[in-house]
Amino acid sequence: MEIIIQPTAEAATSVAAGLVAGIIREKPAAVLGLATGNTPLMLYHELVAMKLDWSKLTTFNLDEYVGISPQHPRSYHCFMWDNLFQHVNVSIKNANILDGMAKNIPASCENYERKIFSAGGIDLQLLGIGTDGHIGFNEQTSSLASRTRIKTLTPQTRKDNARFFGSEDKVPHHVVTMGIGTILETRHCLLLAFGKNKARAVAEAVEGPITSMNPASALQMHPKVTVCLDEAAASELKLTGYYRWVYDNKPDWQKL
Ligand code: PGA
Repeated sequence: MEIIIQPTAEAATSVAAGLVAGIIREKPAAVLGLATGNTPLMLYHELVAMKLDWSKLTTFNLDEYVGISPQHPRSYHCFMWDNLFQHVNVSIKNANILDGMAKNIPASCENYERKIFSAGGIDLQLLGIGTDGHIGFNEQTSSLASRTRIKTLTPQTRKDNARFFGSEDKVPHHVVTMGIGTILETRHCLLLAFGKNKARAVAEAVEGPITSMNPASALQMHPKVTVCLDEAAASELKLTGYYRWVYDNKPDWQKL
């Protein structure tokens, strides 16, 4: 796991944008796993400004609320359209998002897994992290081998996401999400976290034991993970001196 600590969220986002842009330029038909929430907003903004060619890319989003239509302003369909897809030349037929309105949710989740497989697997998966360590909507105690499926949100996540819905009681209880097993099969994970409220979850994920009580800790078993943090999100890590030295002294062949 590579831990990159930058002075600000803006600087950490720039590092992440450089990494994503590098992959898009190197492999124009790459498969990207995309995330929603506040954390990747600046990244999407920066990627749009880079005017990259998205025409051959395929994308898969991590998750969606159940019972919310793609037109609902709080759906992740809308989020992606508003913040990224309408600003780039992605082919919408190649931009995949789970269907929270599917009649048969297990079948639609299985189909999503099949689509990822048929696309050749995900080259780069963007991830945020919940204050409880969730990735995607894999809440605490999610199976570390889980696949795409329906999940029930914890009270903490519903509270955290109330800001998007105006009040907590409007936040759906159920979601569909790629599983931790699905995420672990991607070729490269890029996790972003900013702010003091993420510091404990980040420290437990990176330096704590692997446990479903912090689902992001499963990334310790992934062969290629890049974590981009601002100072506040890195503030509870123990080995910050080591991470900084490693990043500042990377041999040329190891650069992003
Ligand atoms: P946030 O959410 O980016 O809005 O903080 C992250 C997450 O819950 O995964």
